[in-house]
Amino acid sequence: MDDVGQQPAARPRSAAVFGASGGIGRALCEALSARGCAVIHAGSRRGEGPQGEAFRPFAFDLTDEASIASAAAAMRDAPPEWVIIATGVLTLADGTGPERTYKRLDGAAMAEVFALNTIGPALIAKHILPLMPRERSSVFAALSARVGSISDNRLGGWHSYRASKAALNMLLKNFAIELARTHPQGVVAGLHPGTVDSALSAPFQGNLPEGQLTSPEDAAANLLGVLARLTPEQSGRVFDFSGKEVPA
Ligand SMILES: NC(=O)c1ccc[n+]([C@@H]2O[C@H](COP(=O)([O-])OP(=O)(O)OC[C@H]3O[C@@H](n4cnc5c(N)ncnc54)[C@H](OP(=O)(O)O)[C@@H]3O)[C@@H](O)[C@H]2O)c1
Repeated sequence: MDDVGQQPAARPRSAAVFGASGGIGRALCEALSARGCAVIHAGSRRGEGPQGEAFRPFAFDLTDEASIASAAAAMRDAPPEWVIIATGVLTLADGTGPERTYKRLDGAAMAEVFALNTIGPALIAKHILPLMPRERSSVFAALSARVGSISDNRLGGWHSYRASKAALNMLLKNFAIELARTHPQGVVAGLHPGTVDSALSAPFQGNLPEGQLTSPEDAAANLLGVLARLTPEQSGRVFDFSGKEVPA
């Protein structure tokens, strides 16, 4: 039994995906289009994304607030019903991977992980949440990770990544509380996609048990199914690909 209920699945008519060039983000764009979503704002650093009539490509960088503000401004006249942030890093661009021990902590690398996994999504929220419709249902979701759960942390390690996702989860909860005051039908959620075959997970797939790696297409279908069944009462929480709540 999952935690997101069984009400009929909602289908957005318009959506925005930040991170449309990523493994999961691209699959989310394609899955939204396949489900009849007529307008999909597809954001990536290079402004390139999936091709097709529904797609409205835009460029943004998580570390450049002005680029996020102008992306939001371009959506102001017809704000998307669903917004999904599918960006994130585990290994940094210079090859620095997640730390197994506190002895490897490096302040600059930590700051970069937080800039990308926590602060960037928060700045997207800053510019996008005010656009969300007040009188209709809306969804603002960000890809988080189960390892961001403090109570579920049994293995330790991956210090910056875990902490950046835990902090992201806190911000999503905060934003849900604030949004509910003005947008009673709004939903803010974090999502754990499972272990998904993408550039992010590629260096860490070696020891995975058989059958534990999900394709981006299956992950996207799972996540859209979860979002479609979330209610405003569940706003502020994190859910996995099967609809089970990830504990804080
Ligand atoms: N894959 C998994 O097993 C897994 C498991 C749990 C959680 N997640 C979460 O799911 C999310 C998506 O992961 P993924 O597997 O799809 O990874 P991915 O294929 O590596 O995609 C990462 C995305 O983040 C974007 N990005 C990175 N830095 C950026 C920046 N400065 N500005 C704008 N965009 C930036 C990338 O854009 P570029 O193309 O421009 O680099 C890309 O679109 C992440 O939040 C990750 O933590 C994934």
